[in-house]
Parts: sequence; C-alpha cells; structure tokens
Amino acid sequence: MTQGRRWILAARPQGLPARSDFRLQRFTVAEPATGEVAVRVAYHTVAPGVLPKLSGETYTAMVQIGDVIPGNGVGVIEASCHPDLRIGDRVAGELAWATHVVVRPESIQRLEPATFGADVPMESAVGTLGGAGLAAYFGLLRIGQAKPGQTVLVSSASGAVGSVVGQLARIRGCRVIGIAGSAHKCTDLVNSLGFDAAIDYKTHSDLAAAIRAQAPEGVDIYFDNVGGEISDAALLNMKLFGRVVVCGQTSEYQRVVPRGLLGMKQVITRRLTLQGFVVHDFAGEFEAARRELAGWMRAGLLLHRPTIVDGIEHAVDAFVKQFEAGGGGRPLVRVG
Ligand SMILES: NC(=O)c1ccc[n+]([C@@H]2O[C@H](COP(=O)([O-])OP(=O)(O)OC[C@H]3O[C@@H](n4cnc5c(N)ncnc54)[C@H](OP(=O)(O)O)[C@@H]3O)[C@@H](O)[C@H]2O)c1
Repeated sequence: MTQGRRWILAARPQGLPARSDFRLQRFTVAEPATGEVAVRVAYHTVAPGVLPKLSGETYTAMVQIGDVIPGNGVGVIEASCHPDLRIGDRVAGELAWATHVVVRPESIQRLEPATFGADVPMESAVGTLGGAGLAAYFGLLRIGQAKPGQTVLVSSASGAVGSVVGQLARIRGCRVIGIAGSAHKCTDLVNSLGFDAAIDYKTHSDLAAAIRAQAPEGVDIYFDNVGGEISDAALLNMKLFGRVVVCGQTSEYQRVVPRGLLGMKQVITRRLTLQGFVVHDFAGEFEAARRELAGWMRAGLLLHRPTIVDGIEHAVDAFVKQFEAGGGGRPLVRVG
C-alpha cells in the first residue's frame, strides 16, 4: 500500500489565507476504480485563483473542510484502470496539492512524448505550455491576429500570460511594449525577454503620455490583462481599427463595485475591435499549439523560467507568500 501526503483545508480563510487554514495529512493511496488512473504528482501549482474556492466566495466547486486542495499539475501514471492511459504516461491537468491523486481522465491530458523532452521539461505543461502560455498564444495570434511590423502593447507584462505574449510578439516580428509594476520587472522584460520597451506604471502619473512616448504612431494590438486605469491609458493610444484582446481584468477582481473602462468613446472614434476569449474555447487545438510553443522553446526563442519550490511541505508557504507585500512570481511546487 502506497503512503502519500496531501494538503487539506483545515479552516476557511477569512480574507487573506493563513498557514493555519491548511493541514498536511498522511494518507493511503487508493486503488483507481474502473475508468480512473492513479497519478504520482511531480509538480503542482499554488495559484492565487484557488482562494475563492477555499473561502467560499464562489459557487464553483467549493472546497469543503477536510478536502484536499485542488491545483493544476503534472505527473506520471502509476496505476491505470482506463484503456487509453498506460502506466508511465505523463499527464497534466487538474491534480491536487498532493504526492498522489486518483483522477478521472476528463480532468487530465496525456502529454505527447514528442513534445516534451530535455529542452522542454514536463513541468512547462503547467507554465509556458500550460494555460498561461496557451492563453497568450491564442489571444495574441488568433484573437489579436498579430502580424509582422505591428506594435503590440501588453499589460501585466511580467506575469505568466504577459511574459509569453511579449515573447510571441517578438517571434511574430512585432514591436512589443510591456507595462509592469516595478523597475526591476521592466528591466527584466527588456534585458531577458526581448521586449522593445517597458513602462513602470507605478512611477508615471500620466501613463497615456508614457505609452505615447514609446509608441508615437500608435498601438495596433493591446493585450489587456488588467483593465481599469491602465486600459484607459492604452485605449488613448490605439491606432484606427486597432484590436484589443481582453484576456484578464486583474484590477477588477478585488473591487466590490466594478470600475470598468471610462474611455469607451475611444472604441467608436478609433473604430476598435474589443474581443474577449477563454482559453478553453481552443481546447481542440491545444496539442498543436503546444507543439509550436515547444519548437520555439527548443530554438531558444521562448524562455520557461518557473520559480521552483522544493518539497510539498512548502506548498502552503509558497501559496500564502503570494498574498503578502513584496510577494511575486508564480511558484511551482516540485513535490519531491
Ligand atoms: N481569458 C483566459 O482564458 C485567461 C487565461 C489565463 C489567465 N487569464 C487572466 O489573464 C490575466 C493574467 O494572468 P496571469 O496568470 O499572467 O496573472 P499575472 O499577470 O501574473 O497576475 C499577477 C500580476 O498582476 C498585476 N496586478 C495585480 N493587481 C493589479 C492591479 N490592481 N492593477 C494592475 N496590475 C495588477 C501584478 O503585476 P505588476 O506588479 O506588474 O502590476 C501581479 O504580479 C489574469 O487576469 C487572469 O485571470 C485569462
């Protein structure tokens, strides 16, 4: 009988999460039932987005006290009662903050051996080749229809999605300007990720003017991750018939009363197209997109730089730190 460890919800977080809201539990790994597989988890995320499911602020899949904490991850099948999945297959998808998990195949995807290898590690399936990378890929190339020579502006540029958007824009032959929240992030965008320019929105009282200085002829595609004031400044810099890819609205998520966009008049005068999307709309094309992203990683054009936290015992620390002042980056827990 295999013994595992997993994090369970001990108390509902009140506001921000506390370490005492979680408990690391030892358990005996169950045998998979018909149609299920048992996965040894290699890496799992601790995304801030799981918090509403723990505190009960959402109606979707609320986690109960004593339940294991959900999280995307990658792992290897150790036992299978499903005809299409074999022992040794590597999979990615909805796993858990656990060393082992028994899941149904609908919540995971088998990783194509040809896509992943030495230069494309399997943990990139929950990073650059995961939801964030795929949102960047379909958002920029399909919704944004980026073309060589165009100017792309991306907000939250050093985040998981934004950092890939910028690199893909460069690969596509665009000029790319990032907006991020510190001098350090901006330097990294230009020096490490190949952005043409980066603007620290926290140090500019007139962000619209700062964007204009970097894109005097205007912006063809604005990839919007945050909404709010930053997006109003972006709209004031759009070219005629420009495209706005609405991927996320981070600045709205913690507001009780939505702020929205104040510059909607720009949409008319500049004949803009605004289009939102959900990455799962493209689920049928994920594998092909992963192959292309993996090719760019192999060629050294697309960086995969996860912040690895070693050991499942540190998962809660890594989760909680993201909500604390100065906490940044998206940690990935190597279960060990
Ligand atoms: N449509 C889809 O299918 C899809 C898929 C994946 C993600 N998303 C969305 O895309 C967005 C980006 O995702 P991500 O995972 O890459 O997140 P992320 O950009 O890493 O989000 C965290 C960053 O957001 C910025 N931020 C936080 N609060 C802010 C505020 N009030 N105003 C401006 N910036 C703020 C901070 O960066 P700075 O320090 O630079 O401000 C922070 O580090 C999110 O809104 C997410 O929900 C959508």
